Amino acid sequence: MVFEQIATGGCQSYLVGCADTCAAVLIDPELSQIDHYVALASHHGVRLRYLIDTHTHADHFSATKALARQLGLPVVMHRASPAPFVDMRIGDGEMIVLGKLRLQALHTPGHTADSMCLQVEDRVFTGDTLLIGGTGRTDLPSGDPSALYDSLFNRLLKLDGQLAVYPAHDYKGRGHSTLAEEIANNPRLQKRDEAEFVEMMRNLSLTMPTHITEALRTNMSGGKTVAALLAEASATVPFMSLAELKSRVEAAEDDLIVLDVRERDAYEAGHIPGARLLPRGQLELRVNQDLPDPTRRILTCCELGYISTLAAATLRGMGFTRAVALDGGMKAWREGGYALRPGREP
Ligand SMILES: [Fe+2]
Repeated sequence: MVFEQIATGGCQSYLVGCADTCAAVLIDPELSQIDHYVALASHHGVRLRYLIDTHTHADHFSATKALARQLGLPVVMHRASPAPFVDMRIGDGEMIVLGKLRLQALHTPGHTADSMCLQVEDRVFTGDTLLIGGTGRTDLPSGDPSALYDSLFNRLLKLDGQLAVYPAHDYKGRGHSTLAEEIANNPRLQKRDEAEFVEMMRNLSLTMPTHITEALRTNMSGGKTVAALLAEASATVPFMSLAELKSRVEAAEDDLIVLDVRERDAYEAGHIPGARLLPRGQLELRVNQDLPDPTRRILTCCELGYISTLAAATLRGMGFTRAVALDGGMKAWREGGYALRPGREP
């Protein structure tokens, strides 16, 4: 079996492949690791066939939709998944055939209603149903502590104790354990009475994961993260450094239009000398009037450099083929001690 465990912080994802047929699958891939997964598959000489999420993640950005589009592969999830982009919905007791490997799905609701574990040969990918020394939480959308109790004690933990446990999260670099070790040592599994287990899960008082609303929004809908939108915009525009702009402003170059895309109050508090004001929210509707010559070189700037990147990408998309964005923003410009002009331009 071809096997790689890829950690992104505490999130664990897996490349599993059939060594005979070179067919492979990614389990719980994370958005920032797309190039890494594709490179690993090449390194092992396997071809990706499926992308599987063990459940709707609330704490990391799934790469399944983006990889599916990039590589033309099906996304696989349990049939209770709300995500509209899932191509193959599977149910309890069904298998994914991967060359000579068989990935057996076990529906294990509790952490989420769409949680499943996948057993293949000597190991089981437990998603967030069972972690090393812990379990998934049950206080996020569709979580249910009594369903988790049933999934653990009446399903997962009844499998062969020698099966290796590979979870979707591990923050301590432990890699894996076994079902028998978890039954013996996992503190959450010591409450073997359902009512006590439910009571314990209800009283964990865990803090909310960071980015939970964005993760649920994007993982459930297939929509883009803010970082992905910015990365796409950045890939289509060139940038100019603060120092380069400073020297051009000092030389009073009239070749370059500096376009400040912040709101008027921020602009009038202090802007780059000679900069014009055109707030990002009005950009598309005012370009024809404010920027009649699409062949001009235009540099966009904003407070932190993000909105200006989106604005430069929009301008390029509208035909301003010499639009560039400032590498940095007005915050860095001020902190660099560069010249500022308050009020309106003459
Ligand atoms: Fe999760």
